[in-house]
Amino acid sequence: MSETRAEPHLFVVMGGSGDLMRRKLLPTLYRLQERGPLQGKTFLMGVGRREMTDDAYRSWVADALASADVPPGASAPADWCNECLYYRSVHGGTVDHYRQLANKIAGLERRRNLPGNRVFYLALPPVALRDAIRSLGEAGLTKSPGWTRLVVEKPFGCDLQSAEEINALILRYATESQVYRIDYYLAKEAVQNLMVFRFANAIFESLWNRDRIDNVQITVAESVGVSTRAEYYDEAGALRDMVQNHLTQLLTLTAMEIPAALESGMIHDEKVKVLRSVAPIGPGDAVFGQYAGSVVDGEELRGYCEEGGVAPDSQTETFVALRMYVNDWRGQGVPFFLRTGKRLPIRITQIVVNFRCPVLACFAPFSCDIHCNRLVMMLEPNEGFDLCFEVKAPGQPFLLKTERLSFRYADAFDYLPEAYETVLLDLVRGDQTLFVRADAVEAAWALYEPILKRRPPMHLYPAGSWGPEEVANLLQGRDWDVSPC
Ligand code: BG6
Repeated sequence: MSETRAEPHLFVVMGGSGDLMRRKLLPTLYRLQERGPLQGKTFLMGVGRREMTDDAYRSWVADALASADVPPGASAPADWCNECLYYRSVHGGTVDHYRQLANKIAGLERRRNLPGNRVFYLALPPVALRDAIRSLGEAGLTKSPGWTRLVVEKPFGCDLQSAEEINALILRYATESQVYRIDYYLAKEAVQNLMVFRFANAIFESLWNRDRIDNVQITVAESVGVSTRAEYYDEAGALRDMVQNHLTQLLTLTAMEIPAALESGMIHDEKVKVLRSVAPIGPGDAVFGQYAGSVVDGEELRGYCEEGGVAPDSQTETFVALRMYVNDWRGQGVPFFLRTGKRLPIRITQIVVNFRCPVLACFAPFSCDIHCNRLVMMLEPNEGFDLCFEVKAPGQPFLLKTERLSFRYADAFDYLPEAYETVLLDLVRGDQTLFVRADAVEAAWALYEPILKRRPPMHLYPAGSWGPEEVANLLQGRDWDVSPC
């Protein structure tokens, strides 16, 4: 959360001609230099195994920018390409090849008068990660005359053991202060607001405890299927792809205590405390589902196992629902219900805090329905929040009606930065607040070890529905909330 200005640096992307570079990193870096914060500060080097000249790379980049949502004609992307972009190959990827890369980087820095500040962004498939870290380290590339930062994308390992191994490997060559583990959910503006909303508004914070809250529901629903990522997804599944990272982060932000200061280390400490306070997830606390073919609004939707690239007998979960308890003074006994899935009816990310119901005795004579207060934090789409409360409907008979106070970012602000803009800017400014610390990654994996080891039975659900019926058992008589009020 610092206001530090970006210093001149070389931004090296390992996997420089890959999909993440094309879709996310390039358009975002271009926008950041175009709008100002990185103007004249960033020289970009794509690194990969294939051979390519700078010119060939520049035309690949220009093509990628043209097909991305870069504001046309804002300035000439070609100028940026020619002025600030380079490509270097690591050929077979041996340590010697990385040493050659180190020499090339040093030469470029001399020519461009750069002080040796470097980002190494590992935009690589999981199988290539460890070799790249090892080679960078062995070639001396984790140290430089300026600062050096290593960026690792999710998934960070595939279980506790692999995450510990990757952390140990990185920390053999670098210090934790150099490591930026990305969970871009943390950089979404509405997610960042969770802490401000809770800690800057005493009216909510004083109610945020087990005396006042009945349950919390976290939903990250997607209407799309597995799309073109079957190869990765069929290995990962929803628990690894979404729950261990994005949903767990939302849970910690909802349950954490107030840090002494909004400072990276203190925030991380509070988040790790939450993760360590979560009660073991028992066999009855998890429901796994997989979407089956169905017809929605006349459109035929394929089942997961019929998707291209998915094994016909795949047991990969595309839906997970969990009941979790954060057993600390604030939260003991309050269930957190988490659910995420593909091919659900709508795309929505929200956190619903359901408050305890009022004492109903005084309304008993009127036999009217009464609803408990609810706070809906809408993280996507239409970011904002709704506070639902009861009013007397005018006239007779005596009836109550649920109304809401609403706030929408779009009504109050012109511009919401895209999550990757925030991530990249914080990275070059050296602010680790929105990144995930080693112990938090490991604590998050530790939570899910029991269900990774003993997977719950798989239930099919029709594509376009809210998941398997068995999910209702988790809620112990409650309903899931999806609409604001
Ligand atoms: C990614 C997952 O991290 O998040 C994808 O790998 C998922 O499977 C995506 O579709 C959802 O992100 P968002 O920002 O659209 O909610």
